[in-house]
Amino acid sequence: MKSTQRRTFLRKLATASAIPLVPSFLKMETNLNWIESYKEQLGFISPSHTGGNSMALVEDETFWYQIKNMYACSPGLLNLNNGGVSPQPIIVQEAFERYNRLCNEAPSYYMWRVLDQGREPLRTRLATLAGASPEEVAVVRNTSEALETIIFGLRLKRGDKVVVCNLDYPNMANAWKQRAHRDGIILKEVQLDLPNMTNDQIVNAFAEQITPDVKIVHITHLINWNGHILPSRRIADLAHEIGAQTIVDGAHSFAHIQYNIPDLGADYYGTSLHKWLCAPFGTGLIYVKKDLIAGLYPLLASPDPESPDIRKFENLGTRSFAIEQAIGQAIDFQYAIGSALKQARLQYLKKYWTDAVKDHPRIHINTDTSPERSCALCIVDVDGYTPTELGSKLHTDYKIHTTSIEYSNVLGVRITPHIYIVKDDLDRLIEALQVLADA
Ligand SMILES: Cc1ncc(COP(=O)(O)O)c(C=O)c1O
Repeated sequence: MKSTQRRTFLRKLATASAIPLVPSFLKMETNLNWIESYKEQLGFISPSHTGGNSMALVEDETFWYQIKNMYACSPGLLNLNNGGVSPQPIIVQEAFERYNRLCNEAPSYYMWRVLDQGREPLRTRLATLAGASPEEVAVVRNTSEALETIIFGLRLKRGDKVVVCNLDYPNMANAWKQRAHRDGIILKEVQLDLPNMTNDQIVNAFAEQITPDVKIVHITHLINWNGHILPSRRIADLAHEIGAQTIVDGAHSFAHIQYNIPDLGADYYGTSLHKWLCAPFGTGLIYVKKDLIAGLYPLLASPDPESPDIRKFENLGTRSFAIEQAIGQAIDFQYAIGSALKQARLQYLKKYWTDAVKDHPRIHINTDTSPERSCALCIVDVDGYTPTELGSKLHTDYKIHTTSIEYSNVLGVRITPHIYIVKDDLDRLIEALQVLADA
């Protein structure tokens, strides 16, 4: 049963991976022999399949080892900081390299006349993945660019109030501070103490700051410091009740946990595709609700700043279209695994390592691990070590790469597996934490 499901699944992945490696508009342009090399790489996959329940694959380590082999992970260093930025599956890396080589044959021709033709199909596919309209989605380079476009593009005036929170990402906090400094807007900061607050307490903390004179509410959907998922929709509903608009920072939630962007209550939204989607480094998405596009200035000027066309946010000048087009292969990879299975596996991995260490008297999981409150990203603290000391021990003694968090009221080492991490890898982490705690 299980092996049949596995074969079905991997065949699906092989098929999905193989079809869009070169968009049809490019096939006439290239003579690269990529198909044969992929057939070889994926040769272990049996052609027979009879269907089945893919969710049963969550615990199938053989399957996930094969997914691991579709990446190019370091065999020595165990990378448990996938929250920072994620590696790309080999099909994404090779697509990027192929497109990049092609561009270098005649850059202005292949970039602007050939690869650029792929932007509209890509927009449609990204919008489908995001549960939004293609007319509301633009391709940018990262969350910082997406959200700073919004923060600096909003028509706010001196004295206008904006609600932010103590756990927002520094780039966003700094952008708001710069607007406050430059334009005299007033920031009202919600103080969150996580994971100690319930959803009701979080919503109430926002409610206290969302007074009738507030114009914008900035919501970080999944807090990068400790993995906590905020009740974005409930906070957004409060904002909308008083006529304020919402910005949602989806850097850590997109392609990690499943949702449609409009369901978060977001008027404006930004994310990076080089995190959980595993697209090339330097790829992101901006979403603006259709009727708000005309009122938002682009960060980099376009011919008509008041245009209601989402494409005005893509006036970014010369950049790598190879990077942008290879987002398509990352979408294929996401679909081949399936967002539901991916999320379930990430929950499973979190539960696996946190359950193994959580009862140790000197080890503390400082994230609410319930599936509604967090997914893959969690922080851990061991008595006797500062987060920096613990992170450094994990690296020097065990070659486990993590990131140490000492920010606002959040302390711990952040552990972020991705789908190419298997239980064997987490056993190395579990042993390291136990040995260090017992030392
Ligand atoms: C919550 C949050 N917002 C924004 C960003 C910025 O992302 P990028 O560096 O891809 O622009 C990050 C990066 O980790 C983040 O965690």
